[in-house]
Amino acid sequence: MKRVKLWDKEFEVSLPNADIQIAIKKMADTMGKELEGKETLFICILNGAFMFAAELMKELELTDAEISFLKLASYSGISSTGEVKELIGLNEVITGRTVVILEDIVDTGHTIKGVIDQLIEKGAREVKVATLLFKPNALKVDIKLDYVGMEIPNDFIVGFGLDYDRRGRNLKDIYTLVKSN
Ligand code: IMP
Ligand code: MG
Repeated sequence: MKRVKLWDKEFEVSLPNADIQIAIKKMADTMGKELEGKETLFICILNGAFMFAAELMKELELTDAEISFLKLASYSGISSTGEVKELIGLNEVITGRTVVILEDIVDTGHTIKGVIDQLIEKGAREVKVATLLFKPNALKVDIKLDYVGMEIPNDFIVGFGLDYDRRGRNLKDIYTLVKSN
């Protein structure tokens, strides 16, 4: 299997691009049927979800959809679930809308839970989550994931938007950290 070195660590291909594309196409088929006519606002969580969002939106071909991008900035407040992250760059009116969050990966689920809660607070009528990847064994919070591309083991991965210390986001395949023992 193909390997890459990012900084001090080695990674090996675990999900080739062709498999990722198949998973995205399947998500798009399901989502397209459910979301047509809903004037959905898609919200891509930067940086990690940029590649997933681009591929998914091309497959969806909805004529009544909008897409916006937001970053999560660390916030001084601390909630019971950990750090509260402020949503940066969201200028759209959320009130009364169907919003679908586009995320690269759900690990513990804290990040996505924080985003869901804040969008509901801003008055969204319905908040759905579409994540390319999900690590079921890492999940720590009670959340509903509406659309999941692939479930993966609890290993550290990079590529297709995901990074190791800022590198690897541009890789078209997904790689898993090679355990050094
Ligand atoms: P959570 O809040 O624990 O669910 O973490 C979600 C965020 O952590 C994702 O949006 C990613 O940015 C990052 N993350 C989680 N697992 C990985 C991984 O295996 N590789 C790279 N980033 C990850
Ligand atoms: Mg992310």
